[in-house]
Amino acid sequence: MGRVAVLVLLLACACAADAVVTDGLLPNGNFEEGPARSDMVNGSVVRGANAIPRWETSGFVEYIESGQKQGDMLLVVPHGAHAVRLGNDASIRQRLAVARGAYYAVTFSAARTCAQAERLNVSVSPEWGVLPMQTIYSSSGWDSYAWAFQAKLDEVALVIHNPGVEEDPACGPLIDGVAIRALYPPTLGKGNMLKNGGFEEGPYFLPNASWGVLVPPNIEDDHSPLPAWMIMSSKAVKYVDSEHFAVPQGARAVELVSGKESALVQEVSTVPGWTYRLSFAVGDSADGCVGSMVAEAYAARASVKVPYESKGSGGYKRAVLDFAAISNRTRVVFQSAVYHMKSDGTLCGPVIDDASLVLHKQPAGRRLLP
Ligand SMILES: *[C@@H]1O[C@H](CO)[C@@H](O)[C@H](O)[C@H]1NC(C)=O
Ligand SMILES: *[C@@H]1O[C@H](CO)[C@@H](O)[C@H](O)[C@H]1NC(C)=O
Ligand SMILES: *[C@@H]1O[C@H](CO)[C@@H](O)[C@H](O)[C@H]1NC(C)=O
Ligand SMILES: *[C@@H]1O[C@H](CO)[C@@H](O)[C@H](O)[C@H]1NC(C)=O
Repeated sequence: MGRVAVLVLLLACACAADAVVTDGLLPNGNFEEGPARSDMVNGSVVRGANAIPRWETSGFVEYIESGQKQGDMLLVVPHGAHAVRLGNDASIRQRLAVARGAYYAVTFSAARTCAQAERLNVSVSPEWGVLPMQTIYSSSGWDSYAWAFQAKLDEVALVIHNPGVEEDPACGPLIDGVAIRALYPPTLGKGNMLKNGGFEEGPYFLPNASWGVLVPPNIEDDHSPLPAWMIMSSKAVKYVDSEHFAVPQGARAVELVSGKESALVQEVSTVPGWTYRLSFAVGDSADGCVGSMVAEAYAARASVKVPYESKGSGGYKRAVLDFAAISNRTRVVFQSAVYHMKSDGTLCGPVIDDASLVLHKQPAGRRLLP
């Protein structure tokens, strides 16, 4: 009797472990499996909550085919040949089996189709975040966004909701390529007081998303899709990968695309009076961002402005900031001093990578550390 119970328990555990969502596109995350013709009204409006395989929908949802026209505009789809449009108060939802307690980043691509301030509310109960879409960062019109959550249960529902209500119910963002990646809590590497200083740990890159992944500012108590780092202020930073961009070190880096409207921040434990050295790389991601860039770094009462002449074709230089800690906790901050724009009118800026922090000097006669 006891043995049977143990066996059943083991089987149950094995099943649960097998079912946990894996890194990459969600099932039908690129919406290539579509509704039956009979589940569509007026050609594209989805009828019924379960018409799109693997997804549950509500509100005015349209199933979009690449090349479909909206007025004069040709709708182009980045992942496969189909996407969905979330019209008035529309949402898509998918249930995910997850590891309870683990952190995940969701990545998806979205495009605005009407010239108005659209926004999306992404949620995994009880957490949610509103991603504003008023700034478009890529010339294709498609941007990818990341949002992170901690799984409070073994099964959660991911919901992407357009809370807007417009005169034209069909106005609303297109969504495509919904993916997930488990985030590993960052650890301290040897000889670096910063965690994830090379930005190697972060959200999933969609294979065809040559425009990087926007990491929006953290709202209080939010989890960051870039472990150990927070995005402060009001605008996003852009996470870039070596497959599509030039990256100073490793496979990933951060492009500061929002001037002083965004800051990349990490808080570390320090000892007041001790001196620390912050080293980092400043470069450009070879995305055609040309100009005289200035990356700034701040810590305690010190700051450094790092000029970098960008030809927009890749390259970087190294910089250093020495500072004396004035408290137990010190915030290390990176920012772009100015806005930059590519010839296509999209925002861009300097790339930060390979950041490290080491103890430089302990005050003489007060050697407390071995
Ligand atoms: C279909 O189109 C007709 C005519 O434009 C419109 O009255 C109706 O509301 C549309 N149905 C849906 C579900 O959008
Ligand atoms: C990625 O883009 C290429 C070239 O445009 C296209 O052939 C391919 O089908 C796309 N892949 C996906 C998954 O959409
Ligand atoms: C976002 O969605 C969540 C979950 O549905 C909801 O609790 C929250 O109030 C929404 N926030 C906004 C600003 O709409
Ligand atoms: C530093 O930490 C110690 C111990 O946690 C605390 O007693 C002290 O008040 C802190 N000092 C400052 C300046 O935050």
